[in-house]
Formats: sequence, C-alpha cells, structure tokens
Amino acid sequence: MWVERLMKISIVLGTRPEIIKMSPIIRECERLELDYFILHTGQHYSYNMDRVFFEDLELSDAKYNLDVGSGSPGEQTGKMLVGIEKVLEKETPEVVLVQGDTNSTLAGALVASKLGIKVGHVEAGLRSYDRRMPEEINRTLTDHCSYYLFAPTEKSKRILLGEGVPEKKIFVTGNTVVDAVFQNLEIANRKRNIINDLELRSKDYFLVTAHRQENVDNKARFAWILRGLRNVVEEFGLPLVYPIHPRSRKQIREFGLQVDEVRLIEPVDFLSFLQLENNAKLVLTDSGGVQEESCVLGVPCVTLRDNTERPETVEVGANVLAGADSDRILECSKIMVRRQNRWENPFGDGRAGIKIVEELRKTDLLGAE
Ligand code: UD1
Ligand code: UDP
Repeated sequence: MWVERLMKISIVLGTRPEIIKMSPIIRECERLELDYFILHTGQHYSYNMDRVFFEDLELSDAKYNLDVGSGSPGEQTGKMLVGIEKVLEKETPEVVLVQGDTNSTLAGALVASKLGIKVGHVEAGLRSYDRRMPEEINRTLTDHCSYYLFAPTEKSKRILLGEGVPEKKIFVTGNTVVDAVFQNLEIANRKRNIINDLELRSKDYFLVTAHRQENVDNKARFAWILRGLRNVVEEFGLPLVYPIHPRSRKQIREFGLQVDEVRLIEPVDFLSFLQLENNAKLVLTDSGGVQEESCVLGVPCVTLRDNTERPETVEVGANVLAGADSDRILECSKIMVRRQNRWENPFGDGRAGIKIVEELRKTDLLGAE
C-alpha cells in the first residue's frame, strides 16, 4: 500500500505582501492538516504592516519570529541568514517556501539551499530587467537557487526557460494574489465600511500607493510624483487617498515635501484595502501586488514606475507605465479613467495555493508498506 509520508514545510515570510500572498497556501496547509510552520523574519513589524494581516486573514501565529526589524540591506539580510539557519537546522523541514522578491525571500532561499533543503519560490520568473532595484536581485537569485519554481503565468515560465532553468522544475500555477482577492472580497464587502468611514463615494476617488525605494528615497523623483498626484486632484476635482507606507512617510518628513492636496491615511488592513481598490475610479501605484489586484478587480491602473515585472497587466490593457514625470502621470490618468474594464485577468483562476501544495505533495509521495 502507498501511504503518504508527512513532509514538513517551512513557510518563510517577513513583509506585508508576503503574508497576504502566502495566506492561500497557509490555508491549504491547514485544510489538509499538513506539517508546516511559519518562520517570520520580522522585516515588517508595525501593527498595521504585519499583525493586522494575521488577524484579518485568520492565520495562525508564526512559530518563530526573528524580530530582525529595519536596517541597512546587508545588516537586515545578514541577521535573517543567521536566524533562519538556526531555525532550519533545528526543524529540518523538507521544503522551504518563500514568496516574491524581498530581503526575507532571498534570505530564506539562500539559507535553505545551503542546507540542502528544497526551496519552493512562489511567484517565480518575474523580471523588470532593472538590476538597480533590490527586488530584481532578490527575485533573480531566489529563482536560481530554487528547486520548485511556481510561475504565475506562461510568460514567467518562458523567462525562466530562457535563463536555463530546467522545464521540469517550473510549474505554472497562477498567482496566489488572485486566490487572496477571491477569498476575501466578499468578506471585505460584508465586514468593512471604509468608503463611508472616509466619506468617499464609489468610483469617485483615486487610490494611491507609493513606497518603492527608487521612488521615495530620491527627493526629486518623489516630489515629481507628488506634483503629478496634485495635478490629478486639480484636473478631476476628486479626492485622492494615499494609505502611506512608513518608508514614504519618513521620506516626506525628511525631504520636507508638500502633500496638502493628497489625503494621507495610515496603511489599512487588507479587507479595507480591497474595498478601497474595488471602488476606486483609478489606482495609481508603484506596488507590485497592487498592480495585480487592480487588474484582477477590473480597476484601471497607472503605474508610477518606468518598468514593470508584471507586463501582463499592461498587455491586457489594465495598466500603463507613467514613470515619475508629473505631466505624464496626469496624461496617463486621463487615458486610464476612460478605459473600459473588459480585460481578462491573466493571473489565474484563484486556485494557485491549491496547485502549489498539490505539486509539493506529488513529489513527496514516498512509497512505504
Ligand atoms: C520591503 C521590500 C519591498 C516591498 C515592501 C512591501 C526589500 C528590499 N524591500 O520594502 O520589495 O515592496 O517591503 O511593503 O525587501 N518600517 C516601519 N514599520 C515596518 C516596516 C518598515 O516603520 O513594519 C519603516 C522603517 O523606517 C524602515 C522602512 O520602513 O526603515 C523600510 O522598511 P524595509 O523593510 O527595509 O523595506 P520596505 O520599504 O518595507
Ligand atoms: N495593502 C494593504 N493595505 C495598504 C496598502 C496595501 O493591505 O494600506 C496590500 C495590498 O492589497 C497588496 C499588498 O498590500 O496585497 C501590496 O503590498 P506592498 O505594496 O507593500 O508591496 P509590493 O506588492 O509592492 O511588494
């Protein structure tokens, strides 16, 4: 008789988008009663960047939290490497799952591969082809030390094949962000009322997020973006809501930038954010996850970057790249508010989490009497 040996899975995460995009996989592990544990690096630690997502998404607590916190890239990643190694040596999982492109992602993948543990990269094969971005380095290196590469689309699979990754290691699963949206949108509509709380009207406001290092750590570039946002407010006479990432708030203060016309609010929980996205007239963002979610929700998006590793969103007509030029931000916004949302979501059917876990279990079927 074939019986399934219970493999142990370690899920390494550390930031807001990793918690959200790992949540469908965690739910699936729970449903199947698999032997798994969460290792949190502590890269994000503020309540509204971390804990709130565990509560919102009803995830069990991390078994380990390394409390690494903020720091220079080397210091932050270095502390993670040391802490993750200790935990993995003690727990000896068969598989380590990491997601996306943060320092936590790279640290988890690097330690696991050095210990001879199989790495599964969720959201493999994305490329902006801009090596100045820390995320591009993190995602590329992670892909190349992974055993399982869970590519969200055929396009990302082709990128991996082009870089010499053997086809048998690549699994096109869709992106778990679709699962997260489908699993939570209805709950969000039932449980949250942020549109009324903020005195907004559906389809009568703009939603903004911007936090990327290349945008907000550069005074001139951040100032152009903020000027572009002011242009949008003046042109349309509609509110522009910006749940502001702590990095961006710090930079606005440090650079003394003017944000009067923009309505800054604290980062919100995932359910509230989904509701804000779903009801927005237009989303302006430099976030990876927000480009995907707006595409899935049928809300047009203007991306405040010169490139994107999510070209599928542009190809289907859901997204356009505006960069940081204030005039171009306004021009792109004018075009995109008129865009009919008839595109098809390119990121899968909302079963990515199930497919990923299924794949892990398939290769874990060890014969035993
Ligand atoms: C990180 C990721 C980025 C991702 C983003 C998701 C890297 C290199 N970058 O960027 O790809 O898009 O997370 O949000 O891994 N801070 C707080 N509280 C927190 C976390 C951060 O106040 O809970 C502040 C600190 O001042 C910190 C700054 O934000 O110095 C930046 O945090 P950090 O984790 O270094 O990078 P992110 O900008 O969050
Ligand atoms: N998000 C949220 N509250 C906010 C802003 C964003 O819950 O105030 C969610 C959003 O729905 C998406 C994720 O955070 O799922 C994106 O994370 P972020 O923009 O920090 O990182 P990126 O995707 O750029 O790596």
